[in-house]
Amino acid sequence: MTSAVGRADAMAARRLLVLFGSQTGTAQDTAERIGREAKRRHLQCTVEALDSYDVANLISELLVVFVCATTGQGDPPDNMKLFWRFLFRKNLPSGALCRLDYAVLGLGDSSYPKFNFIAKKLHKRVLQLGGNPLLPVALGDDQHDLGPDAVIDPWLVALWDKILMLYPLPSGLEVISPDVRLPPKYTLHYVAEDSPQPNGILLQPTAPRAAPSELCPFAALVVSNQRLTAQSHFQDVRLIEFDVTGSGITCSIVGVVPAGLSPWQSGVYGSVLPMDQLFALSGTALPALLPQPCSIRHLVTHYLDISCVPRRSFFQLLSCFSTSELEREKLQEFSSAQGQEELYSYCNRPRRSTLEVMWDFPHTTCAIPPEYLLDLIPRIRPRAFSIASSMLAHPDRIQILMAVVQYKTWLSKPRRGLCSTWLASLHPEQGDVRVPLWVKKGGLKFPSDPDTPIIMIGPGTGVAPFRAAIQERVAQGRRGNCLFFGCRQESKDFYCQAEWEELVAKGFLTLFTAFSRDQEEKVYVQHRILENRRLVWELLSSRNAHVYLAGNAKQMPAAVAEALQSVLQLEGGLSPSEAEEYLAALERSRRFQSETWS
Ligand code: 2AM
Repeated sequence: MTSAVGRADAMAARRLLVLFGSQTGTAQDTAERIGREAKRRHLQCTVEALDSYDVANLISELLVVFVCATTGQGDPPDNMKLFWRFLFRKNLPSGALCRLDYAVLGLGDSSYPKFNFIAKKLHKRVLQLGGNPLLPVALGDDQHDLGPDAVIDPWLVALWDKILMLYPLPSGLEVISPDVRLPPKYTLHYVAEDSPQPNGILLQPTAPRAAPSELCPFAALVVSNQRLTAQSHFQDVRLIEFDVTGSGITCSIVGVVPAGLSPWQSGVYGSVLPMDQLFALSGTALPALLPQPCSIRHLVTHYLDISCVPRRSFFQLLSCFSTSELEREKLQEFSSAQGQEELYSYCNRPRRSTLEVMWDFPHTTCAIPPEYLLDLIPRIRPRAFSIASSMLAHPDRIQILMAVVQYKTWLSKPRRGLCSTWLASLHPEQGDVRVPLWVKKGGLKFPSDPDTPIIMIGPGTGVAPFRAAIQERVAQGRRGNCLFFGCRQESKDFYCQAEWEELVAKGFLTLFTAFSRDQEEKVYVQHRILENRRLVWELLSSRNAHVYLAGNAKQMPAAVAEALQSVLQLEGGLSPSEAEEYLAALERSRRFQSETWS
């Protein structure tokens, strides 16, 4: 029975649960930050991914902070999808969460139309189920000059005020200052080389029977790795093929290849770390993908993401280890609210990596106790790519079309994407080269009716999911495939040209190309849509065509939507507002779908 006594016990325990739904790690990092701040306030705090938490227990919780990102087109992150489905079950009683005090912190990007949709919806739903909100929902925004912290910092101040009002500090205790080092997440024990029993979970790269998943990826053989753009072109775009025979992967359209192993030359820190020393971890919720025992070398080379731009929490923790007054002062400044603008200029704007920051603070770095490495540096995150091939056309094979991420900032070394640089460096000639991967369902759904035509708009690598769809449909003998493709120059980055031309010749594909830099004036896919408006209108109005858009999320999606609305006005005679509504209706009925990324 959860009686008043039970509640009083819980109050005495001062228990806070922080649940997160995180796709890229920011929500998790924020949740962990809240966890640390809770510990400084002597609260018993558990931080857990929403899908790892047994949601049936929510009914007996008293104090929960939800930290949720919104991904893609207003979707929940992968690690809260089960929770999401449960929460929206129709049969949940309206007062189910009436004991719960809660707060929702959202992380989103206001350049996307459904800004913080998940956090807002979660807040509403918990309220509807009887929960008591402690604060209005926080809407963290990646677009803000100072990042989401600009919203999170003041919101957290208000949150702690509220929580300490409800759960005052036990007498004689004070809030622990940020300068005081908290114990590490895990305890690290050095073990001998012949240590008999791994302490933790040892995962093999291949799991013969289980379906490949993030915790159990399939080690796929790299079969080919081909550069598709001219050597002289600024961008290196690769078509990489994997053999997935025996994986049980049957996915035919879109999926994910996550990976990322960085050969890390440990530099300054490497010289003081016992790199080949084996260790085992103990603690709760041990990192599943870290083999144990594990060497420090493996940890810093293959597990920790030393190339990511460090977050503010990194500086805060780092400052606790500093043996140099000068370095400590600087680190403390970077972790303070007032130092955020400077931190942004130092780190985020030039995309300075964690390793580079460590080089800048050599005294502090050399003093980091190895057991804190897992608190300091996030793990390498999986990356998602659209699958660019169909398994009907290429049995047991998966191909991805990937631009190698490389750009310049004012730092002298060019910035390189961890995963794409690594993938591009793999060649089958090197021997048995394997990549851990798994697949998930893609967001784009193509029509099952064989007679429904599709209009695909995919400039650049946005064409990847369409290559898969076209291959699949052609293998099924379906015609009615219309593709708008855009790139800079016909001679430099018109990838898959020969494939498209063959399909055009066979009558399977109608292709419109926009080579933006082959003439003085820029020509983009939206211009080609307008030029071919009669066909587009005909396909939409008489043939019930579905429209798909994929590619970079900056200005292109809005420009394409505008072009489609112009088609509706010019050819269909609709007014501007009718055209807008027509397109919105197409979107609602999923006849217009997009997959965009930034
Ligand atoms: P640009 O680089 O010459 O401006 C693939 O990246 C193609 O998309 C390139 O030809 C690129 O042209 C083009 N592109 C850039 N901005 C775009 C926009 N707002 N709408 C459509 N295409 C765009």
